[in-house]
Amino acid sequence: TRGGSTAPKRAAGESAAELVTDGMVVGLGTGSTAAEAIRALGERVDNGLAVRGIPTSFQSRELAREYDIPLTSLDETTPDIAIDGADQVADGTLVKGGGAAHAREKIVDTAADRFVVVVDPSKVAETLTHPVPVEMLPDARSTVAAGVRGLGGDPTLRDAERKDGPVVTDNGNLVLDCDFGGITEPDALATGLACLPGVVEHGLFVDCADEIHVGHSDGVRVERP
Ligand code: A5P
Repeated sequence: TRGGSTAPKRAAGESAAELVTDGMVVGLGTGSTAAEAIRALGERVDNGLAVRGIPTSFQSRELAREYDIPLTSLDETTPDIAIDGADQVADGTLVKGGGAAHAREKIVDTAADRFVVVVDPSKVAETLTHPVPVEMLPDARSTVAAGVRGLGGDPTLRDAERKDGPVVTDNGNLVLDCDFGGITEPDALATGLACLPGVVEHGLFVDCADEIHVGHSDGVRVERP
């Protein structure tokens, strides 16, 4: 997992995992904060809670297996609740995709009856400034980059840390990290990005989150956008 475990991340993950009740289907998010929720859920499963998980990435599937959380898929059912992290949150809108998992995350998180976001205070901002990850088909790399510039962004192809070459997503695609400075109209930007041919999914999550659990070292503050 990128980023380690900290008390605030643990508090947020545990608080979200407490919302899960017997028989629920749970969307399992990606990243170090969602991993805390998966771990807390795993402990409850160990104590007899019956749930099924729908993973949002290779990472969350592996974690679920490690904690013996039974898995299902969107072909079988939809989540009662999804618990996922974010790279930045402002006014209920999220930037996700720091782990390049945002396409599956958006599918699973928005399919859930209740989408709960888990973050530490460092993720909460007044205005979104985090670069927006854009997953695209490899063939569309240059045209999507041009389209992003046309929308006022500065795109950088995401490189892999321990490989010579770009990050390839769980879906076999590439990612552009697109810096738009401060994002004052996330809705319009989300539409603009989604309309570029070859874009599979972008990391702006507008009007999706039902609750944001912000973990602190002494407790959790829940925001309802
Ligand atoms: C994965 O692609 C992202 O959307 C993660 O949910 C996000 O990067 C949060 O990860 P951390 O909780 O590790 O910061």
